Amino acid sequence: MFAPNFSFEQEQQFFLDIQQSIENQSFDRLILSQYKGELAQLEKMTFRQIDLQGQATLSCLYHYPTQDMTKNYSIDEGLEKIAELLSQSKQANLFTLHEDVQLKKNKKKAMLSRQKKQAEATKIEQQHNREKHRYVQQQSPFLKHLGITDEKGQVIPSMARKWKQINKFIEIFSNAYEQIDASQQALNIVDFGSGKGYLTFALYDYLQAQNKTPLITGVELRSNLVEFCQQVADEVGFNHLDFFEGDVRSYSPEKLDVMIALHACDIATDFAIHTGIRLNASMIMCAPCCHKELRPQLKSPEVL
Ligand SMILES: C[S@@+](CC[C@H](N)C(=O)[O-])C[C@H]1O[C@@H](n2cnc3c(N)ncnc32)[C@H](O)[C@@H]1O
Repeated sequence: MFAPNFSFEQEQQFFLDIQQSIENQSFDRLILSQYKGELAQLEKMTFRQIDLQGQATLSCLYHYPTQDMTKNYSIDEGLEKIAELLSQSKQANLFTLHEDVQLKKNKKKAMLSRQKKQAEATKIEQQHNREKHRYVQQQSPFLKHLGITDEKGQVIPSMARKWKQINKFIEIFSNAYEQIDASQQALNIVDFGSGKGYLTFALYDYLQAQNKTPLITGVELRSNLVEFCQQVADEVGFNHLDFFEGDVRSYSPEKLDVMIALHACDIATDFAIHTGIRLNASMIMCAPCCHKELRPQLKSPEVL
């Protein structure tokens, strides 16, 4: 285990807390502030654990006055980076599922304080116990392949929000689905801008469980995501789930019963809506993304 030397015992303990929370998967985030190192104007840093193509990764958002920058590290590299930045920061806050830990330092001493999170831990436990009411079965193999659950089928804490989002999506879908005429066995569905496929896989899984034959295509610009998702679909035996590397703006399926476009970037959502209407889709389910194309057109009033 990586064991750096710090000036204060409390700092050493704080670092150990970080290591342990990552190991026992209770790590939520770490904020380092009042940075006094060499990186000009760096205000604070926020570390979170994310899943990058199946690899546990420490993602750090470096906050500067006018912009933010993200860097991703393997867990070992990330811990080394944390140790370096921690020794140059006067305050650090660690948030885990069980407690919040704060470290404050000045030249002479360091103080460590802890606040237990009984309610939060109980809530998470209750959520686990309520598992049977979920729309997606937690033991579904695709969840493990996508990095939502671990080897034992437990939701990885840092993916808890994504897990909640997946279930909410299927809940909304299932309500809308009851209202359309979906009497035909096969349903043609396109997920425009499918990304890492979390929702696409969940939809396939759900419809299969309803004894339907979902014919789903995820359209995605990024080839690495398309390759990854197709590989997972093959591995879990979702035989009618395909991923297509292409642009939503020019992708035109022959048939479309359900059009999905969730957070597709720029004007991709508009193109997807157009395709859905043109092909007379029974259901259009979409949420716009960042509207990046609009931002440069927004001008502040002169007084501002
Ligand atoms: C914010 S992600 C959302 C992913 C997924 N729909 C979800 O909600 O989890 C948007 C995805 O759309 C893809 N995308 C953006 N513009 C696209 C386009 N014109 N054609 C295909 N994919 C696009 C991006 O590469 C990205 O993976």
